[in-house]
Amino acid sequence: MAFRAVFLGPPGAGKGTQAARLVEDREPLHVSTGDMLREHKANGTELGKRAVEYMDHGKLVPDDLIIAMVEDRLSGGILAQGSWILDGFPRTLPQAEALDQSVGSALTHVIFFRVPQEALVERLSGRWTCSSCGAIWHEKFKPTTERGKCDACGGSLRQREDDRPEAVRKRLEVYTAQTEPLLDYYGEKGILTEVDANRSPEDVYSSLIQELSKE
Ligand code: AP5
Repeated sequence: MAFRAVFLGPPGAGKGTQAARLVEDREPLHVSTGDMLREHKANGTELGKRAVEYMDHGKLVPDDLIIAMVEDRLSGGILAQGSWILDGFPRTLPQAEALDQSVGSALTHVIFFRVPQEALVERLSGRWTCSSCGAIWHEKFKPTTERGKCDACGGSLRQREDDRPEAVRKRLEVYTAQTEPLLDYYGEKGILTEVDANRSPEDVYSSLIQELSKE
């Protein structure tokens, strides 16, 4: 099963959770623009310093910065072979057009993770992320054995700045205004598939695999 997919969905839909499971299971290349930006922020790079103002307030980082970062990451033809997933990119029409320019018709699936808004707020407010290995946990839906400590590596858990209530509200607004139009964009291209992501992570994963297995 080879796939070259975009994961699309609102904040908290479970894109990162499903991507981590898929990477463990099928080892595709996983490119997450959110993770890349958080790494730039942690390393204090020029890009990280510019991006943080947008990220912490729930706004999108400007297209020119994101497109340059992704093009740099994808340089050297790393998408030419094997399976890959782009998680959190594209999320505006200019980003989708830039992706078309670089991968052409190589994209096989755009998976839309559908979750109602009330569930998203609960997921984001209870999310904890490991500061060492990046594993994603949830105080209610995926608790760790010991509070504040990662089950995978023992690292300490932290809450993301952009999971504060005001930032979450902004992110949901921004998603509706700027990212949702991509559903029509990819729908018209005939590569959009919807997964009901308001179920257990295991059920969501089964549907995801089923969809990615389709030619
Ligand atoms: P990014 O990191 O991409 O955030 P996001 O898209 O808002 O998505 P999240 O990471 O919040 O959620 P997710 O869908 O991965 O859910 P998760 O699996 O963690 O972007 C962050 C910021 O960076 C943006 O706001 C922007 O500023 C900037 N940025 C990034 N890309 C950009 C771009 N292309 N252009 C411009 N700016 C960009 O799950 C959430 C929680 O729910 C977890 O606790 C998890 O355990 C739990 N959970 C998961 N699945 C389930 C389930 N089935 N049932 C119950 N709980 C579940």
